[in-house]
Order: sequence, then structure tokens, then C-alpha cells
Amino acid sequence: MASLSGLTQQISNRNSVVELPMTHRPQLHNSIKKSCRVGLGVMASENNTSTSELDLSVTVNGLKMPNPFVIGSGPPGTNLAVMRKAFDEGWGAVIAKTVSLDAAKVINVTPRYAKLRAGANGSTRGEIIGWENIELISDRPLETMLSEFKQLKKEYPDRILIASIMEEYDKAAWHELIDRVEQTGVDAIEINFSCPHGMPERKMGAAVGQDCALLEEVCGWINEKATVPVWAKMTPNITDITQPARVALRTGCEGVSAINTIMSVMGINLDTLRPEPCVEGYSTPGGYSSKAVHPIALAKVMSIAQMMRSEFGDKDCSLSGIGGVEAGGDAAEFILLGADTVQVCTGVMMHGYGIVKKLCSELKDFMKKHNFSSIDDFKGLSLEYFTTHTDLVKRQQEAIRQRKAIRKGLASDKDWTGDGFVQETESMVSN
Ligand SMILES: Cc1cc2nc3c(=O)[nH]c(=O)nc-3n(C[C@H](O)[C@H](O)[C@H](O)COP(=O)(O)O)c2cc1C
Repeated sequence: MASLSGLTQQISNRNSVVELPMTHRPQLHNSIKKSCRVGLGVMASENNTSTSELDLSVTVNGLKMPNPFVIGSGPPGTNLAVMRKAFDEGWGAVIAKTVSLDAAKVINVTPRYAKLRAGANGSTRGEIIGWENIELISDRPLETMLSEFKQLKKEYPDRILIASIMEEYDKAAWHELIDRVEQTGVDAIEINFSCPHGMPERKMGAAVGQDCALLEEVCGWINEKATVPVWAKMTPNITDITQPARVALRTGCEGVSAINTIMSVMGINLDTLRPEPCVEGYSTPGGYSSKAVHPIALAKVMSIAQMMRSEFGDKDCSLSGIGGVEAGGDAAEFILLGADTVQVCTGVMMHGYGIVKKLCSELKDFMKKHNFSSIDDFKGLSLEYFTTHTDLVKRQQEAIRQRKAIRKGLASDKDWTGDGFVQETESMVSN
């Protein structure tokens, strides 16, 4: 983990790459206390703030964002034009599509998506609730992606751009990739330890995120090299997601993102008997996303947040909630469980970049309803209401005992008192 002395270094590194006008010089937020890598981004003003009393801005690992909504790595962050669009529409930050050193090894197929629809009474003609993809990481040349990151930071110096990276089991390759990505001026790096299809065949993505020993070694390489904050993106395709999350934070990552897609088979075509999505008659299990994964994502984020609270409570570690977000309420749920930011990928593919305005306004409605004026006011508030099933049984037995005690009324006429007369009468009325 880099020390605060490394901070000066970061600032000079950054300025040697991106020439920022004085008004956009990175400033460090006052509240940064952690002696590790922190981001240098300054906050952009939100597009539509008329209700200035409600503050959606967040500062995460020193990165200031106008709102907690982040474009999740995938098609919505795949090139300069779409990332520009994301900033113009008001997204708090953008995580670009995952890049690796050699894009020539990344060969995509078509079709690579399949959708699950559900309507009233189980109709399959209704809205999309589930989305499977067998898309790989970016197949665009790294050089092209890097020059676009550089250009984007030049055009939007005050917005947060996060690179997503993935490499093979090779320390030198990870170091080279981190170095080249950082030179573009990105504000942070998310590590894709979680892509469930295609990449694990090359010992990449979920193959690392599912193996804590491997993860520890690779995180060690990454954290000895990186000078900007690092988020480790976790796979849900594992029995206990807290284990890799703990490894990532212990080895120096500043944050954890969860979840990537869930391993899935979208279905079998009952006419052709072939699985979907069908490529030349064959398929391979892919990654499931969208609304249907939201409850699973909430459970994973909840368990990571509990672990972080008990084991990393004193540190400035961050948590980014991902999975099935399409409404402000979905985001509020992640934040109530302890997430600092909320990522959206499939929701943008289905509804467009403008959905961020609806997300912000619905999140504000939620805050207004509960008299919260900032994200911090409700971050992690619902976490304390999770307990064990054994404890639920105990609580319920106690509640029933108390209700029965009230209903039971007086055992005999000698128990009537003058003071509690009305309650004593009430306790003997049937419902
Ligand atoms: C078509 C598609 C491509 C994706 N590509 C990436 C990727 O390159 N890197 C990555 O970390 N996650 C990738 N993801 C996963 C998403 O970032 C996200 O973790 C997941 O889809 C759950 O969130 P959602 O329901 O908002 O989509 C991809 C998802 C989809 C649907």
C-alpha cells in the first residue's frame, strides 16, 4: 500500500500526463485521513440541482463524485463516444470496459446476449428481468483504449474515470498494464477478478477471484505497483464472497466492487433443443445480470459490508454495489447496506444513459421522505437489522410471549387495580 508520501508523486505523475487548467487542478478532500493511495478527482456540479438541500455527492477513496451512480464496466464504457455521453448525462463516474495487454487474443462471437422476459401470470412476453452475456473483455487494441482514456480526461478533467483491467498470471504483464493505464491519467483502477466466461479458460477473471491463494499473490503484484486507488471486483460464483473480499482488502486494495455476473444458462430452445445464446448450434454458460440478480447482489454486498464493518471498520475502504439497478430505490438499498457507490451496466444498455437523471431524482425522493440530507446520513443504516436465523426464532418467541402476556388479561378479580383499570379491561377484549 502506498504511503502519503507517495501522494506528491501521484500529483506530479498526473500533471505530467494531463495538463489541467488551474481551476481544474486536483484537490484533496479534507476528510482524507488514510495513509494510502487516494484519488485526485474534483467534483463536478450536478446537472439539475434545484433542490440544493439534498446532497448526492460522495467522496470515495479521495475521489469526489457529484452522485454515487457509476457506469459499470461493460458496453456502456466501451469507447470515447459513449463515455463522453455518460459524463454529459451526469454520471458520477465511469468505469471503462475491461482492457488487457493483448486485445488480439480476445475474440467475441455473435449472438452473445440472451434475455429473460416475465410478465403478468408468468407470461414470457413481459419486461426484461434477466440478461445473459457471453461477451469477453474489450476486443479493441489497448493503445486505442489508452489514447481514448487520455482524451477523455483531457476533455473532462474534473470527472472520475476508472479503468478496468485484467491480465494473465504474470507479474510483469500486470505491472506493464498498470503502468500504461495510469499514464493516461485515470483516477482509479478496478480489477476484474470476476468475469465468469471465456477469460477463466486463460486463468483470468473469475479464475483468480475464486482462488484466494492466487488472488493474494496477484493482488500483491498489483498493490506494489499501483499509485491510484484500486477496487477489486468480486465474483458471486463462489460459496463465500467475503473470503476473496477480505484477501483483496488485506493485500492493500482500497475498495471492493460486487457483484459481477452470475454463471448462467439462459435456456434451451424447445424446438431445436439447442442452448441459448446459440452460436453455430452450440453455447457456453454465460454471465447473468439485470433485475433478477438484484436480490442476490444485495445478499453478497450485505455479507461483504458486515465483514468490512467488523474487520476493516477503522480503515477508509470502499464498497461499490452492483446488480440489477434500474431505480433510485434499488440504489438506496445498496447504500443502506453500506455501499459508497452504485454501478449500473445492463440498466444503461436497456434504458440509455439518461436513466441517471431518473436514478438521481428517485434517490432524492427517498432521501426527502426520510429527512436524509446526504448519502452519509443513511449509508449502512439497515445493516444492523441482519442477524442469524437462531436469533430470529428467539426474538419471535419473546414477542409471542409478550403478546400472550398482554392478551391473557387478569387471572382473577382480585388482580384489578384502580390505576391500570382501562388497560386491564382492554387486555381482556377479544380482537
Ligand atoms: C454485456 C455485458 C458485458 C460486461 N462486460 C464486463 C467487463 O468487461 N468487465 C467487467 O468487470 N464487468 C462486465 N460486465 C458485468 C457488469 O459490469 C456488472 O457487474 C453486471 O452486469 C451486474 O450489473 P448489472 O445488473 O447492472 O448489469 C458486463 C455485463 C454485461 C451485461
